[in-house]
Amino acid sequence: MNLKAPRGTKDIFGDEIYLWQYVEETLREICRYFGVNEIRTPIFEKTELFQRSVGETTDIVTKEMYTMNTKGSESVTLKPEGTAGAARAFIENGMYSLAQPTKLYYITPAFRYERPQAGRQRQFHQFGVEIFGSYDASCDAEVISLVQEVLNRFGINDVELKINSLGGNECRKKYNETLKKYIGDNIEYLCEDCRERFVKNPLRVLDCKNEKCADVIKDAPSVIETLGHECRNHFEQLKENLNNMNIKYTVDSKIVRGLDYYTRTVFEFVSNNIGSQSTICGGGRYDNLVYECKGPKTGAVGFAMGLERLIMLLKEKNLVKEKVRNIDIYLGSIGQKGFLKAQKLGYELRKAGICAEYDTVKRSVKAQLKYADKIKAKYCVVIGDSEIDEDKIQIKFMEKSEQLNVKLSNIKDEILKLLKEKV
Ligand code: HAM
Repeated sequence: MNLKAPRGTKDIFGDEIYLWQYVEETLREICRYFGVNEIRTPIFEKTELFQRSVGETTDIVTKEMYTMNTKGSESVTLKPEGTAGAARAFIENGMYSLAQPTKLYYITPAFRYERPQAGRQRQFHQFGVEIFGSYDASCDAEVISLVQEVLNRFGINDVELKINSLGGNECRKKYNETLKKYIGDNIEYLCEDCRERFVKNPLRVLDCKNEKCADVIKDAPSVIETLGHECRNHFEQLKENLNNMNIKYTVDSKIVRGLDYYTRTVFEFVSNNIGSQSTICGGGRYDNLVYECKGPKTGAVGFAMGLERLIMLLKEKNLVKEKVRNIDIYLGSIGQKGFLKAQKLGYELRKAGICAEYDTVKRSVKAQLKYADKIKAKYCVVIGDSEIDEDKIQIKFMEKSEQLNVKLSNIKDEILKLLKEKV
């Protein structure tokens, strides 16, 4: 039997988990500054939610979803992304009746049945922000500024922001007609998927990676050129807002995104340093989604960032050192009496906020000291009968050949003092 982890999944542990924790803590802190609150939605939702929101013509819905029937014959799907669940929760919990905007963030695993490669997994993690309750371009600029702040915080300065506008319902309808006319008889050169997209949602042909399709649409009219007055104004306001915050961008009319719910603003942050899966973060406005999911008409905008890709970038550029586990003190022991004292003391020290370790595998004293060295404990003691009987202990400084003689009964205060002195 092959008991390996499923293809496209990874165990995260050891030194790497410290990097993940550091990244996640930083993201949470940034969200606090931006007044964005966490939401945790279920890992699976009704399949229909993703069909309706992400869209029937997208690769995600047609090819990549992990869908199953429950015992009650209900079709459910592991979330391929976080926006649909957040929108469902916004409606179901009546968040629209609170003071708007509603600003939510999530850090969640997501699942897509894709061909795994560097930066592309079947279970991956997204950090996403969704803001509900505003149609204004300043909200689009706010979510983009949050992504920019994440990049600033991690010292990432060579990721490019690309923006585009797909227009609202009317502009989109007009553009789809223009595109249909442009493609015209060349429909026969499109891939099978795109021929279906041509009928249901022509805009999505622009997103196809197939070379032949790319060739057909390479000189297609730009969506921005066909925007009506209001959508054009919205896009101009977005640019003004980004300029105001000194956030650099380029306008790229080829950005259409791989999900159907977008209206007006779409954007991507792209890196040149992590190979072909170079989009660190993608997002945009989705003013129809809440209404289409049976909620009140609500403007909304958001993004999701792939954490694997962010972490790849940090490693690639050596931008953060992996945090090693910091053990303050190792409590070695000789004999059962010594062990019981070390165990009790260890528990007391941990309660006082000190990272303490003691021997739970019954090693020799020599092996215990070797272990203390390996786990990089700052201080080490060895407790035996005489230390207990005479209430004395020698604290060994692991990095230098120094020691300090103190009373065993005072060890908590002594260690706290030492730790404070070091700071
Ligand atoms: P998305 O572009 O499908 O957008 O995904 C967002 C990010 O998730 C990508 O830029 C990438 O970094 C990461 N990602 C996607 N698929 C994988 C994968 N298979 N392996 C590793 N990383 C991956 C969305 O999901 C939208 N919900 C974003 C959004 C939020 N739009 C508005 N609000």
